Amino acid sequence: MSAVNEKKVAALEAVKYVESGMTVGLGTGSTAFFMIEAIGEMVQNGLQIKAVATSDETEKLATKLGIKIISLAEAKRLDVTIDGADEVDEDFQLIKGGGGALLREKIVAHNSDLNIIIADSSKSVSKLGKFKLPIETIPFATQLIVKELDSLGLSPVQRMNGDANYKTDENNDIVDIDIWDTHIKLTDLEQQLKTIPGIVETGLFLTTTNVVIIGKGEETIVRKK
Ligand code: A5P
Repeated sequence: MSAVNEKKVAALEAVKYVESGMTVGLGTGSTAFFMIEAIGEMVQNGLQIKAVATSDETEKLATKLGIKIISLAEAKRLDVTIDGADEVDEDFQLIKGGGGALLREKIVAHNSDLNIIIADSSKSVSKLGKFKLPIETIPFATQLIVKELDSLGLSPVQRMNGDANYKTDENNDIVDIDIWDTHIKLTDLEQQLKTIPGIVETGLFLTTTNVVIIGKGEETIVRKK
């Protein structure tokens, strides 16, 4: 079975956690797409939920499928959030942000009682960092942040969209860094990065995930914290 179908297999297992009356966080990306599509179908069949979207792209898709989108302020707290990841390790730690939505994704995850990560089997790793870690930065500071991250040996590369700088939904920049060879503990690295003014958020999700659902062929591997 192809990786694309493993994404769908994981997504279909995850939506079993969604029940009427819940407020649901909707992730972003090609794996989350299958989850949103499935929830859309459940809504058409009578499921009653409200949802918070982690990106403009997700909001557009969900709205098209008839899912009621509310603001995070209205939601106050979410029952469950289902989202994808770029990498997930055995300790429920993630790299996210390949699709640039890490900031809202992290805010939504922080405010959710249950966080389910869905992924195809290629995303399951024993050590994070083959995937470059996305960092969201304030455009005013991006150039200097790139220099500072370079001096820390993190090989920063500002993400581009053709000839223009890539922009997030919040109109910020993304800088992708290489953490594979760093000897700094991930929790310390996260803290260190957050002390640099102008870094808004990192794609390291170290503590929020409760359940990981990996699509492996036609089966799922479900890991609970
Ligand atoms: C969006 O910014 C990301 O965090 C995605 O959740 C992550 O990149 C996974 O995306 P795919 O499911 O498309 O691989």
